[in-house]
Amino acid sequence: MHRNKNADKPLLIGNIPLSSRVISAPLAGISDLPFRLLAKSAGCGLVCFEMISSNGLVYRSPKTWRMLASDPAEKPVSVQIFGSDPSVMATAARYVEDAGADIIDINFGCSVKKVLKTGAGAALMRDYDRARDVIKAVRESVFIPLTIKMRTGWDPGGDDAFRLSDIAQKLGVDAIAIHPRTAIQGFKGRADWSIIAKLRKMASIPLIGNGDIINPHDASRMMEETGCDAVMVGRAAIGAPWIFSNIKEYLEGREFAEPSIGDRFDIMFAYLDAAVRHYGEAHGCRIMRSRLGWFARALPGSASFRRSICRISSRQEAVGLLSCYRDFLLSRCKTQAFRDRR
Ligand SMILES: Cc1cc2nc3c(=O)[nH]c(=O)nc-3n(C[C@H](O)[C@H](O)[C@H](O)COP(=O)(O)O)c2cc1C
Repeated sequence: MHRNKNADKPLLIGNIPLSSRVISAPLAGISDLPFRLLAKSAGCGLVCFEMISSNGLVYRSPKTWRMLASDPAEKPVSVQIFGSDPSVMATAARYVEDAGADIIDINFGCSVKKVLKTGAGAALMRDYDRARDVIKAVRESVFIPLTIKMRTGWDPGGDDAFRLSDIAQKLGVDAIAIHPRTAIQGFKGRADWSIIAKLRKMASIPLIGNGDIINPHDASRMMEETGCDAVMVGRAAIGAPWIFSNIKEYLEGREFAEPSIGDRFDIMFAYLDAAVRHYGEAHGCRIMRSRLGWFARALPGSASFRRSICRISSRQEAVGLLSCYRDFLLSRCKTQAFRDRR
């Protein structure tokens, strides 16, 4: 039986109840407002903003401030900030709270060189004193729940995650998300779920497991094997946001199904419209060139669809190409069904 024993019990992060135990991971360059709206309507219990620079907020970069745009339909939302200066992080956290975030998250996992160079992201996992100062400063500056998202640690064999989670709990952090790969690993190898299980035994606050979930079976297996309270999904949702509803259904003991061609394209049209609304037509279409292409992954004729969609410059053009591709796929399904009947 795959039904998760906690699926019916609402998970609380601080005082914020989540509608399901499936959370969308912060994905820089992807989890913007249009993406989060898709994730939310697919049954995601909590949507996370992509990481936002605390310096960018405090020094008033218009581009950074635009990243705070939100919509009541996606609530509750978690906004992730990164940085290494406790007072800058505290001020940025206050701005994020004032902007209407429900939860604030601190990034302890980013392993991109540009971020590590500034002592932020995963670099904080090997500088406990600074990590403590950052958490303390942020905790003291906001009232909303505070979470942290971390990796296993800097390099293999260490106990960074356990030490950091202990520090975080003592400072009043409300939940921890862990992606169990080291900073040095980046995205190579497999996520080591045994670290999540070990951390679950130590921590008394909600623990969110993340890493290598690509279908509902993986999500269920992670919850069973590790005892984590919720699962967080990143890469598998890119071009397939229905993974959130599929996981939710499965954890609640129901069967799940891949979307029909019609449903898949309805989602793509909704995504396109949300991007055009949010970014304006020209910029929205530029962004959607690759994003719509990802939805065609593993579908017949995807290479030629991608070649044409990666040149769109207007909504009308995109709608035309999407409609054409959808009709091509539907007619193939009909021919296939006809052949199968004979
Ligand atoms: C393109 C991309 C962007 C990411 N951006 C962020 C980010 O902004 N903040 C963060 O904490 N993690 C970020 N991550 C890490 C993911 O949130 C997640 O921890 C990781 O992808 C493992 O989960 P998955 O196997 O479900 O993808 C990013 C990962 C990818 C692939």
